[in-house]
Amino acid sequence: MKTVRLGIVGLGMGALHAANVQSGKVRRAVVTAVADNNPEKFSRAPGARAFATAEELIGSGLVDAVLIATPHYSHTSLGIKALRAGLHVLVEKPISVQLADAQRLLAAHRGKKQVFAAMFNQRTDPFYQKIRALVRGGELGEFHRISWTVTDWFRPAAYYASSAWRATWAGEGGGILLNQCPHNLDLLQWMFGMPVRLRAYCHFGRYHDIEVEDDVTAYLEFANGATGVFTASTGEAPGTNRLEVAAERGRLVYENDRLTFTRNAVPAAEFSRTTKEPFAKPATDEVVFPLTGHGGQHAELLQNFIDAILDGTPLLAPASEGLHSVGLANAMLLSTWTDRTVSLPISGRAYAGWLKKKIATSKRKPRTKSGVTAADLAKSFGR
Ligand SMILES: NC(=O)c1ccc[n+]([C@@H]2O[C@H](COP(=O)([O-])OP(=O)(O)OC[C@H]3O[C@@H](n4cnc5c(N)ncnc54)[C@H](O)[C@@H]3O)[C@@H](O)[C@H]2O)c1
Repeated sequence: MKTVRLGIVGLGMGALHAANVQSGKVRRAVVTAVADNNPEKFSRAPGARAFATAEELIGSGLVDAVLIATPHYSHTSLGIKALRAGLHVLVEKPISVQLADAQRLLAAHRGKKQVFAAMFNQRTDPFYQKIRALVRGGELGEFHRISWTVTDWFRPAAYYASSAWRATWAGEGGGILLNQCPHNLDLLQWMFGMPVRLRAYCHFGRYHDIEVEDDVTAYLEFANGATGVFTASTGEAPGTNRLEVAAERGRLVYENDRLTFTRNAVPAAEFSRTTKEPFAKPATDEVVFPLTGHGGQHAELLQNFIDAILDGTPLLAPASEGLHSVGLANAMLLSTWTDRTVSLPISGRAYAGWLKKKIATSKRKPRTKSGVTAADLAKSFGR
């Protein structure tokens, strides 16, 4: 195979992915087919064969790979169908709404020859790549505390009204944790590993007339004893994106496109043991890393998927790793609902029970044309 024949399902965000291929930003791929259950969207990806359903596209014989960019619940059902049909699959974030679905989806993956990736485009950002390298490469020493405020996800009411499936338990399966923050939760575990326990406080409809969470503060504990605070909101303006890491060898701060490492001349614990001065602190110097831009984002992630199919290039974001951000999001909601600290991984079954109850008692059913079928929901709860 010299060129990958790509099918795209869902022409909201999917139209941007199609444009990235059609404008030449992604090489060695051609969009041969698209599917959307709203035919008005077909004009967003001209030149490709258009299908009214994902199933027809998957069975068409016109595609080697499929990119699933539909509302969240259908990631599981459509992903399983595409994987079972033997196609390579790139699924949008989150890979599924809930852990049990994510596990079913991953179980349909046939093995190494079938490429299965997730659209965690922020992994292409050189700032996050550098932080990960510093943490994992040992340059920071052991990390003690992380504090990540991601309140720059501001969304006005018009956003929640823009598609009928948004902002309901039955349509979207959650709010900021399931839509905006999968990126941050993925990066968090990619850089620092998974916490072992967390306590979260989610606020539902704090800033918007919605039933799902639009504001979150979570306290995290890691296996090495490190702690963390993760804060996110779609209601704050102007909002902040600031990540601070306190580590043995100094402090790392990422904010406003600047990554600064204030280095301790002597690691903190060693200095603490040896000095006789009661108010002494280690001397420091400052390193500002010469990084610019935010990487190739969606086009780079899609190119990596194509290169993995054609050349066996390692994936930047294997779908299997998408389980962690789903697990973190579910754990934060479960901790809020149960008013308790939860240990990770949480039980997918317990979470499914809670989510099912939220859907059953919801007064806001997804509006018409939601793109979430009764079959998707039924499969999500194993009925
Ligand atoms: N990676 C990113 O940066 C990013 C950005 C935005 C959205 N997303 C993700 O993309 C996905 C779609 O979000 P969106 O904002 O594009 O939503 P959207 O509502 O704008 O578009 C979804 C499209 O899918 C179609 N659709 C729904 N169900 C379908 C089905 N079963 N078969 C075929 N078509 C179907 C709808 O008609 C619609 O055109 C979500 O998973 C979202 O989280 C990712």
